[in-house]
Amino acid sequence: MVMDVSEAIKRRRSVRRFRQEEISREILLELIGAARCAPSAANRQPLEFVIVDSEKLKAKVFAQLAWAGYVRPRRDPPAGKRPVAYIIVLINKERALADFDPVDAAAAIENILLAAQGNQIGSCWLGSIKREKIREILEIPDTYKIDSVVALGYPDEQPVMEDCKDENIEYYLDDKDVLHVPKRPLQSITHLNKFGLPID
Ligand SMILES: Cc1cc2nc3c(=O)[nH]c(=O)nc-3n(C[C@H](O)[C@H](O)[C@H](O)COP(=O)(O)O)c2cc1C
Repeated sequence: MVMDVSEAIKRRRSVRRFRQEEISREILLELIGAARCAPSAANRQPLEFVIVDSEKLKAKVFAQLAWAGYVRPRRDPPAGKRPVAYIIVLINKERALADFDPVDAAAAIENILLAAQGNQIGSCWLGSIKREKIREILEIPDTYKIDSVVALGYPDEQPVMEDCKDENIEYYLDDKDVLHVPKRPLQSITHLNKFGLPID
């Protein structure tokens, strides 16, 4: 069943434990198709993507990632729960518009995460990555910047989102090993007409 967009936005959480069920190439291409639809500064479209779904390369890429800093190492995916595919997001420097590249990448990545959610696939956007090692492993030329890695797989955990208390934004694990993700409430982040005027 395909999920409604606002439902997908609300339900998407970063997932760090995955069932070992393969994601078809067709779906992986659908996710890149979603990235391709994203807004792009001056429509320069500097992004390219590497799908990694071979066992050997997945293991090598996994070793270059850092997971869930606030609860480390308790959300490092253990063997048997690791991502079943990755999409590596690249910026072609020859097409890029300097300051806007990471913004283009972010818009495209969010489309990937939401398209994944719409297919009941869990994802985690990873920016704490060993870029030079990944470059070597995947033979990525120097004319490309490595922006991010998106880890993918059918979820084996269901993190929950909640309003944060006292502006504490650190996600945490409860005694049932459920990950809680605090988000700043609407009242804290929204100003009505003039800065400082509350919404209620
Ligand atoms: C630019 C960026 C980099 C991130 N890098 C990592 C990372 O290296 N490792 C990780 O486990 N999560 C990473 N995340 C995921 C965040 O930890 C996560 O989005 C945040 O805790 C909020 O949780 P949510 O995605 O479930 O809303 C990253 C997210 C963004 C936007």
